[in-house]
Amino acid sequence: MSTPIKIAVTGAAGQIGYSLLFRIASGALFGADTPVQLRLLEITPALKALEGVVMELDDCAFPALDSVEIGDDADHIFDGVNLALLVGARPRTKGMERGDLLSANGAIFTAQGQALNRVAADDVRIGVTGNPANTNALIAMSNAPDIPASRFSALTRLDHNRALGQLAKKTQVRVGDIRKMTVWGNHSATQYPDIFHAEVAGRNAAEVVNDQDWIENDFIPTVARRGAAIIDARGASSAASAASATIDAARDWLLGTPEGDWVSMAVASDGSYGVPEGLIYSYPVTTSGGNWEIVEGLEVNDFSRRKLDATAAELFDERAAVVELGLIDLRQ
Ligand code: NAI
Repeated sequence: MSTPIKIAVTGAAGQIGYSLLFRIASGALFGADTPVQLRLLEITPALKALEGVVMELDDCAFPALDSVEIGDDADHIFDGVNLALLVGARPRTKGMERGDLLSANGAIFTAQGQALNRVAADDVRIGVTGNPANTNALIAMSNAPDIPASRFSALTRLDHNRALGQLAKKTQVRVGDIRKMTVWGNHSATQYPDIFHAEVAGRNAAEVVNDQDWIENDFIPTVARRGAAIIDARGASSAASAASATIDAARDWLLGTPEGDWVSMAVASDGSYGVPEGLIYSYPVTTSGGNWEIVEGLEVNDFSRRKLDATAAELFDERAAVVELGLIDLRQ
């Protein structure tokens, strides 16, 4: 067996954690022959519940699970981690204003960014699932000046996977027959799932669908509002699918995207596609050797341009709000 990989998961006693930890421990990220050490961060009141989850992990007897460490101290849990999956976040509760939500999460992601900066391994990659994911990633990144910005990403893979599922249904193919799906922008209702560059069994997806009304009034809103539809149906937010997407995103980031395909990842904008630099914006990316690269040169039609700009504008406003709250300093 190879050297163990140290993986931190925050919010480990939550809903997503309850699916994510078991998938990671069973080898879904690096294969069953690569040992993993789980390092699980929770707030103090949730540690008892987390102990119960660890008992269940023990009871699964996963051969790839080398060790599990739990705690409420970020410096201890993040020590030497190669991968940090930041899932835990403060949910919006009744009567909470947007500014309160940003402040509460700002405090969490400021502290976690600083702790990662102090103690994570030199090769650390940080994936943010906890909402508002793009802006939380921006806050963590801004508080970790010694970690390259390219090591931070926010999760839009669930949106990407939802888009694949909807397009596969519409075109009656298997998900595996679809390539080059893109979700642009924010993990929010303004996101833009784009099939104009996607391929269905090698043919342009928009041409195969040939139905702009479906794209605008069915596909995009279904993908963008899928989270709310799941809450309505299940009485709880997406958890297994969010955990699965968190794994897909980390695996493809570290192990590479397949030839001839790409994935959607929210990463620090370099100004590509006219998006303000520094926003954590979801782009089509290819990955290799643990590094991502934005797919450049895609043609953006007028319809897409408006969508790309609208979701960028929302992220721009979120960034302005956290700057105003003093959570990040743009001059850094
Ligand atoms: P949950 O409420 O079941 O679990 C969150 C856990 O985070 C709780 O156990 C809580 O104690 C913990 N936590 C809170 N503050 C913490 C801190 N400072 N350090 C460590 N742990 C902390 O929520 P669930 O369903 O597991 O979702 C987690 C997050 O993921 C939410 O913010 C949710 O909105 C987001 N999400 C994101 C998706 C995406 O596609 N980006 C999809 C689905 C959910």
